[in-house]
Amino acid sequence: MLREHVADKQSRANPCWRQVGVALVAGACVLVTGGRGTPMMDAAAAPTDVADPNYDEAAVRAFTLPNILEGPDGVAAKSATAWEQTSRPYQFRQLQRFVYGQVLPPVPVTVVGEVERAEVILSGPGDATTAAVRLQTRLRLGDRKDAAETAVLCYLPAEAAAAQASVPIFLKLNFAGNQAETTDEGVWMTTSWMRDRKGVVAHRATEATRGLNARRFPVAEMLSRGYGMATAYCGDFFPDHADGRPDSVLPSLGRPAEGELPPDEPGAIAAWAWGLSRVLDWLNTRPEVDEDAVIVVGHSRLGKTALWAGACDPRFAMVVSNESGCGGAALSRRNYGETVGVITARFPHWFCPRFREYAGRELELPVDQHTLVAMTAPRPLYVASAEGDRWADPRGEFLSAVAAGPVWRLYGRVGLGTRAYPEVGRSVGEYVRYHVRAGRHDLLLEDWPHFADMAEDMLGLTPEPAR
Ligand code: GCU
Repeated sequence: MLREHVADKQSRANPCWRQVGVALVAGACVLVTGGRGTPMMDAAAAPTDVADPNYDEAAVRAFTLPNILEGPDGVAAKSATAWEQTSRPYQFRQLQRFVYGQVLPPVPVTVVGEVERAEVILSGPGDATTAAVRLQTRLRLGDRKDAAETAVLCYLPAEAAAAQASVPIFLKLNFAGNQAETTDEGVWMTTSWMRDRKGVVAHRATEATRGLNARRFPVAEMLSRGYGMATAYCGDFFPDHADGRPDSVLPSLGRPAEGELPPDEPGAIAAWAWGLSRVLDWLNTRPEVDEDAVIVVGHSRLGKTALWAGACDPRFAMVVSNESGCGGAALSRRNYGETVGVITARFPHWFCPRFREYAGRELELPVDQHTLVAMTAPRPLYVASAEGDRWADPRGEFLSAVAAGPVWRLYGRVGLGTRAYPEVGRSVGEYVRYHVRAGRHDLLLEDWPHFADMAEDMLGLTPEPAR
């Protein structure tokens, strides 16, 4: 049994900003210098019913965003140092208090048995094939009797693995087990609880789920670009239902399993983000992994999670949020698509209990989602949307990325560098990038090259393409 407890490394991210409040009116972004960013109440709030979301840009109320540069005394950071020492810790605490709950502590991570290593040939890209090394392992998370376990799947380009070269890795949690991410028959089938969906019987995955979500995890294509790809099932950390808490990792971390919860009690997103950091603990013990280039990627609720994981753990070199929407990159003050009221009613277990109190009162929230987006700074951040995914409010995701820009500026870096909403399919920005893809809510092959391009440009990677 190999014990692999990896202590948190020193921050490579030195988050920070300049004194600006940002007012966003009906999709137009106006920078307002100084001020406390007092929210403006608007009587004509749009409908919040899930069956009748507002999709009318003209009905989006006017609002002012909180100034994310501010520290607890209301003074806005004017330097990267002031951001790191005062404002970032304060804003991060506010996100814990109002949205995601307290950050969970690290635990020792242990490999159960041996890491399974296999040489495999994957079909793709296109008509070609790709030689890969597949690693699978079960990790035990913590020392306690009730410690949780998770199964991790990791593919590496065969040539790099043979040369014992370390490669950059995309790490992504998945919705339906590792076996659903690929058609590779050697991938272990998850035995964890699963929401009812195609191929799931009595809340357990069957063979029919194999490969179902492979479109979201283009292993051959990314390996052939020189990246490794790793994944684990989110349900190993918190089964995704309102009563999932007793079966989540939370009790094993000393958190209450049920009953009245403190207002800042962490929920599923916090548990999933914590799980990503534990997988990273293990990845960082592997010589095949470039520990300075592990990129966390997430789609939808797991895109919200990727943003929170990047906020909590500076070891993630870059963050990719795909269609993370409400509670992710999209601004809560914009009453467009999903709202705080709807999300906390349908998924009460995702956030801390206090977030729910802001249903219909989004203008009073002391933070908005640009605060979350800014937590990645000064690291690279990709925010991706889809045109047909109005529920996730693509424009609200873009405006959030715009509003987070001043933190990158404190580091002398350009974030998005534009306030003009881009045409469909075009990637814009520098340290913060954005594209809106044609089509519906999903993570698709065509999204990934944008992420890899950014990693290469902004992390200075030169991954060796597989031959
Ligand atoms: C629902 C939910 C979204 C979430 C999405 C998903 O649509 O309302 O907030 O992002 O599920 O995770 O697929």
